[in-house]
Amino acid sequence: MKFAIIYSSLTGCTKRVAEALYAGLDQLKAYPEISQIAKSIDNFRNKPDVSDADIVALGYFVSQASMEDDLKKFLPNLKGKRVFVFCTLAYFAESEHAFKSIQSGVNLVKAAGAEVIGSYVCNGALAPDIIARFKSIAESKMEENWPMHHHAFTPEKGLRYELFKNHPTKLECELASERFNERVILSEKILNLHK
Ligand SMILES: Cc1cc2nc3c(=O)[nH]c(=O)nc-3n(C[C@H](O)[C@H](O)[C@H](O)COP(=O)(O)O)c2cc1C
Repeated sequence: MKFAIIYSSLTGCTKRVAEALYAGLDQLKAYPEISQIAKSIDNFRNKPDVSDADIVALGYFVSQASMEDDLKKFLPNLKGKRVFVFCTLAYFAESEHAFKSIQSGVNLVKAAGAEVIGSYVCNGALAPDIIARFKSIAESKMEENWPMHHHAFTPEKGLRYELFKNHPTKLECELASERFNERVILSEKILNLHK
């Protein structure tokens, strides 16, 4: 079976999860449903060819509760593929915002004509330059009802950014890999049912 792990990552958080998925694929060798494993991993910006992949894992850093626009242009390459969708974001992974952010990716991938076999969302760190920007803009604009006022920096948010600094953690990466592998096996078993 051929696997392609594709990611969009600015500061490395989503890339770390992608690398965990890539490494964890070797555990699938223990399963009789899985034939010999061939795997690749790449940033979508390198325009990887996924045409011969049986399964693609597509990961993105959340941007405006979805994926960045450039990555959306890559999605037609996924037509007819089985795809596992994952993302990292700088807000609570159990929040409605996180759910919307992963669901948006799932819906876009489905709309591109792919079958989504599973998904995963976890925290990532917010880049220090973004935190600094929120700090500086917020102070000057809050009184003016600035349209981005929900980003206004507060000490509470500072603590959250501090908390997420070391995310995704090793455990989050391992869980991503476990979820991915489980869904690959489930998908293979379902395919075998229909053979
Ligand atoms: C342009 C931009 C938009 C973002 N929008 C969101 C957002 O809507 N919600 C959120 O929780 N985090 C948002 N983030 C934070 C990133 O999703 C988060 O820090 C992510 O883990 C970074 O992943 P990376 O290291 O792979 O780039 C945004 C970051 C950038 C750069």
